Amino acid sequence: MADRFTVILAAGKGTRMNSQLYKVLHPVCGRAMVDHVLTQVEAISPTQVVTVVGFGSNGVQDLLQQRTEYAFQQEQLGTAHAVLQAEDILGDKTGTTLVISGDTPLFTAQTLQDLFAYHEQNKAAATVLTAKAPDPFGYGRVLRNDTGQVTQIVEQKDATVEQQAVAEINTGVYCFDNQKLFAYLHQVNNDNAQGEYYLPDVIGLMQANQDKVIAYQMPDFTESLGVNDRVALAQANRIMQARINEKHMRAGVTFQDPTSTTIDIDVQIGNDTLIEPNVVLKGKTKIGSDCYITSGSRIVDSCLADHVRVVSSTLEQATMHSYSNIGPNSHLRPLAEIGEQAHIGNFCEVKNALIGPRSKVGHLSYVGDATIGSDVNIGCGVVFVNYDGVQKFHTQVGDHAFIGSNANIVAPVTIADHAFVAAGSTITADINRHDMAIGRARQVNKPDYWSKLPLGQDPDWN
Ligand code: UD1
Ligand code: CA
Repeated sequence: MADRFTVILAAGKGTRMNSQLYKVLHPVCGRAMVDHVLTQVEAISPTQVVTVVGFGSNGVQDLLQQRTEYAFQQEQLGTAHAVLQAEDILGDKTGTTLVISGDTPLFTAQTLQDLFAYHEQNKAAATVLTAKAPDPFGYGRVLRNDTGQVTQIVEQKDATVEQQAVAEINTGVYCFDNQKLFAYLHQVNNDNAQGEYYLPDVIGLMQANQDKVIAYQMPDFTESLGVNDRVALAQANRIMQARINEKHMRAGVTFQDPTSTTIDIDVQIGNDTLIEPNVVLKGKTKIGSDCYITSGSRIVDSCLADHVRVVSSTLEQATMHSYSNIGPNSHLRPLAEIGEQAHIGNFCEVKNALIGPRSKVGHLSYVGDATIGSDVNIGCGVVFVNYDGVQKFHTQVGDHAFIGSNANIVAPVTIADHAFVAAGSTITADINRHDMAIGRARQVNKPDYWSKLPLGQDPDWN
């Protein structure tokens, strides 16, 4: 087998996106488009991969790092000009070169593999990957002669009305004989509607010079969707999302409505987990088996063990151990860790805190910068006062401690095992094992206060 090379085109700014963010860096299901392309390319292990970067290229290089080599395109003069920038790296090599755009995130490694094989079997100078598009607008059209041979590719803006009626489009993916590719690239001119050097013109030039040009038509257009604007971006997300959700369903995850469930590509989910509609799972989130995630939950970069229940809550960089549960309407912020069988109820926030096994934070509490032991009960409306406006301070609560409702625990403070905090207390000093702390004003009852009200009448308190 001849050596295989790949050139990924990623230097275009992406004007039609109307974005500050460079086009190929826009994410589809949590991964930048150009990363999707490279990931599929990597799966077929080419000898060398060169990514052509340009304006805003720092972001691409920061993202892809050493996974590819880079060629720099100073000015965006067109796709042929872009490929030509890889000449220093690939020009003298013998083999087959795949060219693919960084804005076509849906191609699979299988398709690229099939294209390479088809090209090599047919000993072609160029093989263009084509598809029949339901709406070909915007794509280059593939023109064929009477015998069905590809003669030329014409861009939307250069196409006659007749040519625009052609449904077969150039997907922007090709295999070329490497040396012929670079030889012909030097012959491409920019005499066209956009004043650009078009890579597809190489196809016409080769054909005119009797070099063998063939097309490999994909049975399904879907994979070849090119993302030039936000409408196509949304379509790409929807298609990729359907693939991701199907993969999880086949692996044993139940979705009550997969079309309304958003899951990034790197998320892992164990079998027998049930996901209600309107759940969002993002980043590197990992969810165990037999979990239950209800509607309205948003889980980002978090790790859930088996048998965890999340009810309409938001989790960010949090960990929940097995049989723990949260919600409704609570928030785990970075470095919240919920122990086995622990319970976080409704309207609670936990940040940078470890909640020990079987401990309970039932309602309306804030636990920040704390280590809570096992079997602790934290009543309603408890606040861990961790911040003095300058610094954050830590609180330690021992096993089996009981914190009464509406207590303020002013850090830094240590509450020992089996210690007890009376409801409504403001705690500023350490509490020893088995002690009870009560820090609140004593109640005073004023006898017969009623008669001192103005005129001694019932006020209108409704
Ligand atoms: C291109 C093809 C079109 C095909 C379509 C498939 C050309 C001229 N047209 O059109 O036939 O149907 O893809 O999606 O090739 N780029 C550079 N440098 C440049 C210009 C572009 O690196 O100077 C990169 C872009 O970042 C992008 C890719 O090349 O990743 C394609 O460019 P784009 O402008 O999106 O081409 P299309 O108009 O979509
Ligand atoms: Ca494009």
